[in-house]
Amino acid sequence: MDANRIPVHIGLIMDGNGRWAKKRLMPRSFGHNAGMNAMIKIAERAKEIGVKYLTVYTLSTENLLRPEEELEGLFGLFRKYFTKNVQKLYNSGAGIKVIGDISVLPADVQKLLSDGEKNSPEGCGFWLIFAINYGARAEIVRALNLAIEKGEKLDAKALEEMLYTRGIPDPDLIIRTGGEMRLSNFLLYQAAYSELYFTNVLFPDFDEKEFDKAIKEFAGRERRFGKI
Ligand code: FPP
Repeated sequence: MDANRIPVHIGLIMDGNGRWAKKRLMPRSFGHNAGMNAMIKIAERAKEIGVKYLTVYTLSTENLLRPEEELEGLFGLFRKYFTKNVQKLYNSGAGIKVIGDISVLPADVQKLLSDGEKNSPEGCGFWLIFAINYGARAEIVRALNLAIEKGEKLDAKALEEMLYTRGIPDPDLIIRTGGEMRLSNFLLYQAAYSELYFTNVLFPDFDEKEFDKAIKEFAGRERRFGKI
């Protein structure tokens, strides 16, 4: 792999857990659990090849309208990840960031997430960024309201400072599994020049080999950022 052609920041829309479970006549929570395991492996692989930021779309603002039972399953996965798995990530010199409005989540999950950010080691070479109760439109509206409250006139740089992603470079590549070809309110401002990669593979089946395929395709693309 050409080290100069590795994306600095990858966004990952982890779609297809429900269908993966359905094919196995299992509940959706079974699919999300398998999705979490796939996410852990992809984060390890991303770090290994030199990616610096991986933003995973774990819960959109719209997903919060799903049935209580499914949401409880997802919150259970956060509890599991942030108590059992996160230490391994820290030990490898990686850290956690969270983007989105977590104030509506159960109090213990909010605490796990903010502790997860606080306990991240200094000077991390890799960040796993959880988008939770995240929606790009809500993010932009929030940023605009912050500016209005401050009485500030915005330019692009000032707006970027008010987004959840302040300080994080824009994603070079956004990967979506599960066959749909849309961004579903994910990083809409930041995706202005992102390369998009769509695959039919359902997220729990999206392994290191599939991830490497996306990286290779990215490496072969010509990025002009609007220039000729
Ligand atoms: C969309 O697939 C996926 C989600 C709403 C959740 C994604 C969450 C994970 C992969 C687990 C993440 C890890 C932690 C630590 C919580 P879907 O279920 O809507 O799929 P479908 O389109 O097949 O129904």
